Amino acid sequence: RASIPFFREIEPALIDRLVPYMHQKTYRKGELIFLEGDQGNEIYFIGSGSISIYTFDKSKKVILAFLREGEYFGEMALMKPGLVRSATAECLMTTRLYILRRSDFQLLIENDRNIAFHLLDYTMDRLRRANQQIYDLTFLNVRSRLIKKLIYMMENYTTEDLNDFVIPVKITHQQIAEMVGAARETVSKVLQELQDEGFIQIQDKMIHLQNLKQLKAKLAEED
Ligand code: CMP
Repeated sequence: RASIPFFREIEPALIDRLVPYMHQKTYRKGELIFLEGDQGNEIYFIGSGSISIYTFDKSKKVILAFLREGEYFGEMALMKPGLVRSATAECLMTTRLYILRRSDFQLLIENDRNIAFHLLDYTMDRLRRANQQIYDLTFLNVRSRLIKKLIYMMENYTTEDLNDFVIPVKITHQQIAEMVGAARETVSKVLQELQDEGFIQIQDKMIHLQNLKQLKAKLAEED
């Protein structure tokens, strides 16, 4: 649990009290945790693996976020009774989740000020990112949006080796299209361009980036 920042905010004594109320569950790749519109009574902490948060209708899908080890989701529907899930959560790989029920989560917030602050901080980060997303969708073309998304994922999800940034999730062109709000064909074309220009390499659906600085410079130049 040391890997989950949220738990670092909690006094050890409180964690000891909570442990009996948490349960652990392992999900397979492609399994749904919940669907948008479901009643929500639990919050999920990612122990290992990763999760896609998305919203969809019959013909379209928008990926709002990829979450990974240490992050959490499902807190929004817990804020008031009767709220439903605002998006769907699906596993991108085998994923272990620690699960806490609404009443226990509320107990935590009421008993520990740090936790309430942490939650606020996390929510504000998300709002900041969502605002950025609105800006990007309004003003940037697909190529710039895609480069920005790659930089964001590299900076937030990369492995330790700074000479070879790699997004540690196998990712399809379709998924990238659903993240940047573009057609799959356009995304494939731009990824090919970026490969030809020497910015990225795609091996076994993993995107590697040789020079983050150069790609950032390119983005600034094209903006
Ligand atoms: P909830 O509404 O209970 O269920 C869906 C969850 O997805 C939501 O809580 C948040 O935890 C998470 N979520 C919703 N929107 C975003 C977003 N834009 N970025 C990251 N996570 C989100």
